[in-house]
Amino acid sequence: MTPIRIAPSILASDFLSLKDQIKLVQKGGADWLHLDVMDGHFVPNITIGPPIVASIRKHTNLPLDVHLMIEEPDQYLEAFRSAGADNITVHQEACVHLHRTVQRIKELGALAGVALNPATPVALLSDIIEEIDLVLIMSVNPGFGGQRFIPACKRRLSEVRALAKSVKKSIYIEVDGGIDITTAHSVVRAGANVLVAGTAIFQQENITKAVVQLRKSCS
Ligand code: DX5
Ligand code: ZN
Repeated sequence: MTPIRIAPSILASDFLSLKDQIKLVQKGGADWLHLDVMDGHFVPNITIGPPIVASIRKHTNLPLDVHLMIEEPDQYLEAFRSAGADNITVHQEACVHLHRTVQRIKELGALAGVALNPATPVALLSDIIEEIDLVLIMSVNPGFGGQRFIPACKRRLSEVRALAKSVKKSIYIEVDGGIDITTAHSVVRAGANVLVAGTAIFQQENITKAVVQLRKSCS
């Protein structure tokens, strides 16, 4: 069975204590660090850009899982890769030439991910699934942390798993939004093998323990 990866989302962290908080999630056994990039256009919020990714890169060896919630992501792929992104995920809804964008991410040497909003059919990935390394299923509408989990994402995770299986491809199936110790188990059963969690980790009193408990709750 694929091991489950835990990817704490720094969106819910205390940015001025980020260096220490990253150490705390590492101590808890976090696998990746999830970085949410928002441009105020694709989503109604603004967060971080390449300079912050570069600063984070200097302080951790964890793979940096960069989730681009931005319009025209092609313009910024190189900047995020140079800043240290290991995985670059773009939204299907933001890419007119998704195939080209995915090829570009791979040329840059990163893992290529494609994210789907809750209302975007999984079937839209059927002609590109063989090209991608990661599918990110949004389990909230993108833009903010701390929102309520949308249960329909479980069916969608199973659809992604089936799609990957149909082309005999092993991919990361990532779920993002409202993941905590009450929802983790069911999304893993549905097919997720990477869990993003912001609030359920960084907003807890004991950040290290929160990572450990989230992993425990998967099984
Ligand atoms: C939302 C972001 C998420 C967010 C998840 O648009 O993509 O990564 O940080 O936050 P929680 O875990 O609090 O729902
Ligand atoms: Zn995210």
